[in-house]
Amino acid sequence: MYEFHLFVCVNERDQPKQGCRDRQAHDLVELFREKIKAQAIPATCRVNKSGCLGKCAQGPVVVLYPQNQWFFKVTAEKVDEILATFLHV
Ligand code: FES
Repeated sequence: MYEFHLFVCVNERDQPKQGCRDRQAHDLVELFREKIKAQAIPATCRVNKSGCLGKCAQGPVVVLYPQNQWFFKVTAEKVDEILATFLHV
């Protein structure tokens, strides 16, 4: 059991529409996982790749459960800030 689940949309859309995959969402997944592992808290939070979360124009989209907290236009620079909202690191 994990205390938190972070869902990162990695969906690909048919061109010319852009999905989160086109906005480097896979890099975000790896970055979230690396940061969580580096802080020795991997059992606390699970980072999941997700399909489309329905907010494609605001991608990359990340949602945190159970808080149901959404993050839009996520960049690598925002990863620490997002983790700090619930991990208190
Ligand atoms: S492709 Fe990511 S929210 Fe739709």
